[in-house]
Amino acid sequence: MILISGSGSNMAAIVETARTQRWQARFGARIAAVVSNKAAAPGLAWAKEQGIATAALDHKGYDSREAFDAALKAEIDRHAPALVVLAGFMRILTPGFVQHYEGRLINIHPSLLPAFPGLKTHQRAIEMGCRFAGATVHRVTSELDHGEILEQAVVPVLPDDTAESLGARVLAQEHVIYPRAVERLLAVA
Ligand code: GRF
Repeated sequence: MILISGSGSNMAAIVETARTQRWQARFGARIAAVVSNKAAAPGLAWAKEQGIATAALDHKGYDSREAFDAALKAEIDRHAPALVVLAGFMRILTPGFVQHYEGRLINIHPSLLPAFPGLKTHQRAIEMGCRFAGATVHRVTSELDHGEILEQAVVPVLPDDTAESLGARVLAQEHVIYPRAVERLLAVA
């Protein structure tokens, strides 16, 4: 089960790796569904074209974070997934939700955690004069961008980098480490 909010390039990398690395045959694993909190998320249309079950749950249609998370939980649990993969899912989840999926909820964050939790990671890395940046796949805990680190990738920060150029370099590595992290978890499940 993959949760997205936007372009879904990490989701696509995972879907493609699932195919090329034959996750179904090797681990009995398939992508149960892709769920977005934005109906217009380009990644959702892509997933649908691939024949994957999709659902959109607009968080604006709910009175509270708890109400949205309850609806999201119901949608996810219909599929009884072994893993819930956050791939650019831009909503903070309630502690109750996180606890419910403890041990099977993972996220990718575009920094070398524990440095730069939160937003604008590439801009902040450049402003701090970091020589290296990267991305982290981690287990989700109720503290934002914390939790056990499962995979990391490092890239150099180049002298002329902008947040965009650095972000593109990091994103290319995200597409390598996220499928790898998921595959490792499937292999030990
Ligand atoms: C990635 O940079 C990810 O690290 C962050 O949001 C972005 C999502 O990109 N959490 P995409 O939707 O997977 O293309």
